[in-house]
Amino acid sequence: MRLILLGPPGVGKGTQAQFLMDRLQAVQVSTGDLLRAAVREGTALGKDAKRYMDAGELVPDDVILGLIGEKMTELKGRSVIFDGFPRTVAQAEGLDRLMDGLGQQIDRVLELTVEDQVVIDRLSSRRSCPQCGAVFNLISAPPKVENVCDVCGHVGLIQRDDDKPEVIANRLRVYHDQTAPVAGYYHDRGNLVQADGLGSVEEVRSRVDSALAI
Ligand code: AP5
Repeated sequence: MRLILLGPPGVGKGTQAQFLMDRLQAVQVSTGDLLRAAVREGTALGKDAKRYMDAGELVPDDVILGLIGEKMTELKGRSVIFDGFPRTVAQAEGLDRLMDGLGQQIDRVLELTVEDQVVIDRLSSRRSCPQCGAVFNLISAPPKVENVCDVCGHVGLIQRDDDKPEVIANRLRVYHDQTAPVAGYYHDRGNLVQADGLGSVEEVRSRVDSALAI
């Protein structure tokens, strides 16, 4: 199974991917996570990518397609959930070429939808653990003990640099200009389904299951 999760920043792609990994026995491949790991490790790619990420702009397509190519080779045919990729029509076309070369295909594409104001509210209140990557939300999913990670016990949850108001606004602009057309690309190929991302995590999870018929 190869599933793509599409949708605006903060719609809940990463949150729903956590459930889907179990349901589909699949690996999550998040280009955002791969890029943040490269930034943390201080690689040349990470240093270059950080400029784009801090501004809420997209990292160039060739860099992203290179990362995905390496990851797919490493995963050797395992089931995959793509989270936050593809983000441009050029990336979707590149993924098609890569899949052809590997003798694989994209089975389903799920688009989660919400209004921009919901994105702004969710991202402004997101916090994450710098040690294990667990994601929380000060309003909808707070940690059990303030500022302490439920998963690994690390003290000191952080706000992502790109979850600042001015960067969120640009990420939304970039999403509408460059990423929204990707849904049309998959709609034309007949494998797009949609689910409303508004409501509790559990409500969205149940809609996702229905949309994917799993
Ligand atoms: P990336 O990390 O992919 O960011 P994003 O797509 O903007 O997605 P997010 O991780 O912000 O949100 P999400 O939809 O996963 O929501 P989450 O589940 O965390 O990309 C970051 C940057 O990297 C990009 O700006 C770009 O520079 C670069 N990049 C990455 N991929 C690229 C690519 N392919 N091409 C080019 N550049 C690329 O939820 C958000 C919050 O809401 C959390 O606090 C969560 O707890 C909460 N929440 C989730 N669901 C609900 C709910 N139902 N109700 C209430 N709260 C909820």
